Amino acid sequence: MIVPGSRSQLLAAALADETGRPLATATYDRFPDGEALAAVPEFDDDEAVVVAATDSDEAWVELLQLQDAVREAGAEHVTTVIPYMGYARQDESFGAGQPVSARAMARAVSTGTDRVVLVTPHEPTIADFYTVPVDVIEAASVLAEPLPALDDPLFLAPDEGAIDIAETVETAYGEGETDYFEKRRDRETGDVEVTPSDAPVDGRDVVIVDDIVATGSTMSEAVDVLVDRGATRVLAACVHPMLAGNAVTKLRAAGVDTLIGTDTIERSCSVVSVAPVVAGVLD
Ligand code: R5P
Repeated sequence: MIVPGSRSQLLAAALADETGRPLATATYDRFPDGEALAAVPEFDDDEAVVVAATDSDEAWVELLQLQDAVREAGAEHVTTVIPYMGYARQDESFGAGQPVSARAMARAVSTGTDRVVLVTPHEPTIADFYTVPVDVIEAASVLAEPLPALDDPLFLAPDEGAIDIAETVETAYGEGETDYFEKRRDRETGDVEVTPSDAPVDGRDVVIVDDIVATGSTMSEAVDVLVDRGATRVLAACVHPMLAGNAVTKLRAAGVDTLIGTDTIERSCSVVSVAPVVAGVLD
């Protein structure tokens, strides 16, 4: 039985289609004092696959409740698919007395599951924070599917850490070159400064590829440079379209032609599903 978190209902349905497993109709309620109550009223399976993006604190609580609910309903085996793991970028302590938040979340989730599936985590080493077996899936290749026909394409990572993802998308697309910019983020202000490479972009279609667009600062800084240098079209593609606050406006204002994301976080730009790659590790 596939059990969706409230924020991952489309992905869970796609996963049910891919795997041929039934889809549970979970419910998501609240008590008058604000406490959440996620449940699986109709459940009849000894195997549960809970699918829940944890893009907010509420989503983490909901996931813990669903893990517990399926056990209460009789599930003997629980797999937890976290298509987008929030707090993953807090994978170290940033100062004395500060937590390793990704570890704290991973430990909590491990108590309610036999196994975890992570999709394109910020760092694969995050898997080590879980105390149950973890499958780490790199889903970036699906971003090539919705791309239009591109002219002399360059797949660009906005920082060195995303070059593997850019290469994955370039390989899946089947033609083009890859490059990366250097990025520096001021931890206090969140401001991003990019140092461009000397890759020629004049007259080319450029696809900027990253694991996540959160505030949109990283991508929009990179887009500014590319537009200045004469790129014909700039497309933005990411696995996790968090798109917090005014990120979409920032990207459009910078000159992004097309924004593409997957359904690890369900947004209007989630035009391609990671369900087929997730299904591959479930069977
Ligand atoms: C950083 O290492 C990530 O790969 C992303 O580039 C970054 O987290 C995006 O954040 P934002 O959209 O807030 O600049």
